[in-house]
Amino acid sequence: MEPLAAGLKGVPFPQPRKARAGCPHDSRRDASATRGMLESYFEARVRILFIGDIFGRPGRIIVKEKLPSLVETYSVDLVIANGENSAAGFGITPPLAEELFELGIDVITTGNHIWDKREIIDFFQMADGNAHSPSRRLLRPANFAADLPGRGVYEGCKGKVPYGVINLQGRVFMASNDDPFRVADQLINGLQAKVILVDMHAEATSEKISLGWYLDGRVTAVVGTHTHVPTADERVLPNGTAYITDVGMTGPYDGVIGVKKELVVGKFLNNMPVRFEPASGDVRLCAVVIECDETTGRARSIERVMV
Ligand SMILES: [Fe+2]
Ligand SMILES: [Fe+2]
Repeated sequence: MEPLAAGLKGVPFPQPRKARAGCPHDSRRDASATRGMLESYFEARVRILFIGDIFGRPGRIIVKEKLPSLVETYSVDLVIANGENSAAGFGITPPLAEELFELGIDVITTGNHIWDKREIIDFFQMADGNAHSPSRRLLRPANFAADLPGRGVYEGCKGKVPYGVINLQGRVFMASNDDPFRVADQLINGLQAKVILVDMHAEATSEKISLGWYLDGRVTAVVGTHTHVPTADERVLPNGTAYITDVGMTGPYDGVIGVKKELVVGKFLNNMPVRFEPASGDVRLCAVVIECDETTGRARSIERVMV
């Protein structure tokens, strides 16, 4: 089988970014420079904690309890979380977004539940030209219709490190949206930052894995969200993009993807209308820690975390 990097027949396949000369990935370094290179290797280290779908009050509480120790244990520089289920499983409200930012989350991504709480529309419009306000650091999928409220990409700095976050939604077994692959192309080309994380909020594993390969070498990480079930396929792809199909939910596992199990089982048995309510037991925080080189944006490692 031909490697994907060679390009699909008739379809130009974007080439990965080249590592800068002088970085630890550059094989031309000589022995006399080794010590300095090692020092710069550690100085250039950036660690990103990405937290999977925060579900309801149980999810918010465990983030509040565990985030400080996770940041300390893993020497985390940047915290990103998917918050689409923060409001009792359905959407996110302005006060809850503010609450998550106050806990130390830098950027919140979302997905198909973003409009469940209508007041979030007003929150998006509060950005009012401030490129780094909380309203701008809450994202909705970038491949939604362009004239909808909010944005799907954010670029900022943490300390002196420029970074970008892109939020996309899949199209397989989900509502129709623009092509996430080509939207990703456009957004990546518009970013200055080397450190770029993509949250691919999608149902189909094949669509998420395909996006990982498609963006390999052009972004630091492609992390999957939405299914609420963590997958065990985390790895760094050959050109330096960290990848996982689904980070998993941060919330109650004593249910069905966050909802009381008896309600969902009943729905499968009789298909009668039912109001879903959040489960409450076996609360876990699911996340990944990605380490990368800030000068190239290339990932060095990705580690799954469940607490
Ligand atoms: Fe979700
Ligand atoms: Fe979702």
